[in-house]
Amino acid sequence: MRQTLTLALSKGRILDETLPLLATCGIEPVESPDSSRKLIIETNRDDLRLLIVRASDVPTYVEHGGADLGVAGRDVLLESRGESIYDPVDLGIARCRLMVAGPTGSSLDIPRPRVATKFVELARQHFAAQGRQAEIIKLYGSMELAPLVGMADLIVDLVDTGNTLRANGLEPLETITEISSRLVVNKASLKMEHQRIGALIEDLATAADAAA
Ligand code: ADP
Ligand code: PRP
Ligand code: MG
Repeated sequence: MRQTLTLALSKGRILDETLPLLATCGIEPVESPDSSRKLIIETNRDDLRLLIVRASDVPTYVEHGGADLGVAGRDVLLESRGESIYDPVDLGIARCRLMVAGPTGSSLDIPRPRVATKFVELARQHFAAQGRQAEIIKLYGSMELAPLVGMADLIVDLVDTGNTLRANGLEPLETITEISSRLVVNKASLKMEHQRIGALIEDLATAADAAA
């Protein structure tokens, strides 16, 4: 019997934006991953199933062979392991920017700013590359709050429409990098199942191109 392939996705925008690409490839989940409490969702292809994991855990599942493939934001990939994971396709979904932001009217020109972020490594690299000292404060979410309560001068966070910044009296100050989600692949799986995984990579790349 053929080994079942697994694709790790996170609930929310990655799942919502990946399902149409899978549909273009003729792949449909047999039940709605959004409403189901199940973490393994079968698809109409008997050799492919979906794993529902946290967005930041996708690279870990793929790297450790818990999943053969996954979809992960470039922010998560860069923050967690640099360039070491095989990420052959930019799916062009969940597009946003990693930015430095601060209170409206504030300046980037603060000596040794306190910077609140969940992207500790990316923030550190960004400020170091510019030769600017910064004190990085690690948070797990709601970074926008930190300047409002005087805990930080700046934040490093993802920005799409800018609505979240505006709603909290902040503004974007500097773009660090453009973000979209990528297809990631376990290297050993690709070797073992070159035919099937190779075909899936190609199909998803074509679907992403068509959707662009
Ligand atoms: P989490 O629960 O980790 O915040 P999300 O579903 O919000 O998961 O984010 C998953 C990925 O989608 C992120 O890693 C990022 O690449 C991208 N993303 C996050 N926020 C936005 C946004 N506001 N607009 C577009 N893409 C986003
Ligand atoms: C993300 C991100 C920002 C917001 C930016 O949060 O962390 O807060 O989107 O998008 P905008 O520029 O369009 O407002 P998300 O919606 O994922 O909520 P979360 O805190 O649950 O991750
Ligand atoms: Mg989020």
